Amino acid sequence: MTGKDNRKTFHIQTFGCQMNVRDSETLAGMLEELGFAESKNKREADVAVINTCSVRENADQKFFGTLGQLKKIKEERPDFVVAVCGCMMQQQHIVDTLKEKYPWVDLIFGTHNIHEFPRLLTNVISERKKIVDIWDNSEDIIEGLPSKREFPFKAYVNIMYGCNNFCTYCIVPYTRGRERSRRPEEIINEIRNLAASGVKEVMLLGQNVNSYGVGCDFNTDFADLIGQINEIEGIERIRFTTSHPKDLSDKLIEAFRTCEKLCPSIHLPVQSGSTAVLRRMNRKYTKEEYLDLVGKLKAAVPDIAITTDIIVGFPGETDEDFNDTLDLVERVRFDSAFTFLYSIRKGTPAEKYKDQVPEAVKHERFNRLVELQNKISAEINKACEGKVFPVLVEGPSKTNPKNYSGRTETGKLVHFRGSPDLIGQIVPVRITEGKTFALFGERVEE
Ligand code: 5AD
Ligand code: SF4
Repeated sequence: MTGKDNRKTFHIQTFGCQMNVRDSETLAGMLEELGFAESKNKREADVAVINTCSVRENADQKFFGTLGQLKKIKEERPDFVVAVCGCMMQQQHIVDTLKEKYPWVDLIFGTHNIHEFPRLLTNVISERKKIVDIWDNSEDIIEGLPSKREFPFKAYVNIMYGCNNFCTYCIVPYTRGRERSRRPEEIINEIRNLAASGVKEVMLLGQNVNSYGVGCDFNTDFADLIGQINEIEGIERIRFTTSHPKDLSDKLIEAFRTCEKLCPSIHLPVQSGSTAVLRRMNRKYTKEEYLDLVGKLKAAVPDIAITTDIIVGFPGETDEDFNDTLDLVERVRFDSAFTFLYSIRKGTPAEKYKDQVPEAVKHERFNRLVELQNKISAEINKACEGKVFPVLVEGPSKTNPKNYSGRTETGKLVHFRGSPDLIGQIVPVRITEGKTFALFGERVEE
């Protein structure tokens, strides 16, 4: 089926983290260059792409469920093209299952050869054949790929790819390969162009942004890079994710003070509050070191918002270990936390750990942690009441179409009465109500 303007259409479904969202923007850009138009509905599209994730809970089930739905469309329309890519494709057992049980998938490619997508897709269509093309690793970074970005006023910018840390629970080093940093001049150029096109906020992406530039033939580290971006006219907000606590330098903490565009917020995954568990996770810091780091951040940037990731029920986690996590959460007072039930990832060291925690125990701990964190988030957000924050307006609220929503510099979601002309603007909003997951407020006339 074709779009109104006779162009063939595509639909991309993205699972997982910001990296995957960014990759999908590149895939969409390449599809538009090939002459395709985006379709909101996968059932009507000519090409359906599923960009998969290996990190999230039940990722396999969700993915195979989605593929199951596509079988029927393929039966009705044999020209319908099904392409799958992303982290799951870097796992051999997934590709084997696809080949064996999902013959209606036309194209399988991985995280290292996204730039090959146009050629692969063209071959699939013109030769009506199936292609599986996965690269084990990649050293080069391909620059200059097209993008179809979601917002005109804020943008994700990759600064590095891959991860060298090998946390024992994590699949990412196997699916995304070793650390590679983009050259600073490429990043600066991209952000200058974004600023020229109206982008005000950049979110710098990497699995471990604090080790940006390590082992490279240039001398720019992460704090230097932020300093350079801070100089770019038109850019008003700089954010980044994700930081590994072991690599967070004093120089970066200083950058929060010297770079006025660097937003006072940091996502600093702790994973556990128990030093013994952290050691088995291969995180390379102790509970005390993490608390010291938070102390330094809060001393340097009093209004900083700190968010985190926590895994509950890592193999061998005792009641005492878990109490250490609760204690750390109370002491840090995170603005918010993503909480995960530990689950085995095939091929990671922790898969082989003998003392897996029973599901019931994991769930009970998980619920207690979420309850504590929600209480803290609600208290912190309540304390925002009466204060005025600059908010970058994103669009109509998803929950109440009468409201508009945007984000504070600390990354908090704010809903308020607005109008379409405010989208993409930074406006002052007075907070009238602070809830667990969002703030509500009213616009202050300037
Ligand atoms: N089980 C549970 N949570 C996990 N994460 C990564 N791997 C696992 C796993 N095997 C979580 C970590 C990471 C976040 C993106 O996902 O907390 O920071
Ligand atoms: Fe995974 Fe650890 Fe690398 Fe983060 S730092 S991507 S948790 S291995």
